[in-house]
Amino acid sequence: RKAIIMQSTPSTQGEVQQLADEGVSEGAVVLAEEQTNGRGRYGRRWYSPPGKGIWMSILLRPQQSLRNTPQLTLLTGLAVCRAIRSFTGVDAGIKWPNDVLVNGRKICGILMESALEDHELRYCIAGIGVDVNFDKQDYPEELSPIATSLQIETGKTVDRTLLAAAILTELEQLYDMYQKQGFNVIAALWEALSVSLHRDIKVSNAHGIVEGMALGIDSSGALIVQKKDGERITVFSGEISL
Ligand code: BTN
Repeated sequence: RKAIIMQSTPSTQGEVQQLADEGVSEGAVVLAEEQTNGRGRYGRRWYSPPGKGIWMSILLRPQQSLRNTPQLTLLTGLAVCRAIRSFTGVDAGIKWPNDVLVNGRKICGILMESALEDHELRYCIAGIGVDVNFDKQDYPEELSPIATSLQIETGKTVDRTLLAAAILTELEQLYDMYQKQGFNVIAALWEALSVSLHRDIKVSNAHGIVEGMALGIDSSGALIVQKKDGERITVFSGEISL
């Protein structure tokens, strides 16, 4: 499989998009030491200074149809969470849909972008940003209360190359399992590492804000929430606060 390591790029998402449009096959990955225009969800910026993190994007060409991208999103977060736990021993958990948290702070974000053609899914790009060797002082003021890194959590520098390899291995295994056995086995593994289930949460999305108890995820990857009045609703996208 194709792997490219770059010194600096605006965003590894753009690099993989270019490869995808050139017809490169599934599994191609681009890593960068630094991103000058790293992107987050909801059009936010993703702070990606040189040497501090794993900034990488992976090309997926799933056989499944477009409506399964939420499942791939959960699968990718699960892969990172499992790799972080086994490689560093840090007690990482997943906040729906796919932020990886340690001690309540975000250590990894995932951006899943898909390209459509005639309403058919052509490919997905899984973007993964992991804060690895940030010091507390490395964070700008607005991030320092909400972000953390593996170095901060373990007190040691962590080998980014080995961790990136562990994430890719984990992703490949879960993806393989998903293609062969379907989403249910992934959902069970995801629920086991979730920090957002069986507690009161607030979900905000385009439809407004809903408060309730997160019960689980359904077979599409959506979050099932029981509201205070007892009504059960299914949330397909949005952000939750714990
Ligand atoms: C989020 O939590 O909002 C998602 C952040 C995703 C960041 C990664 S870093 C590698 C890839 N390239 C980008 O520009 N973004 C993703």
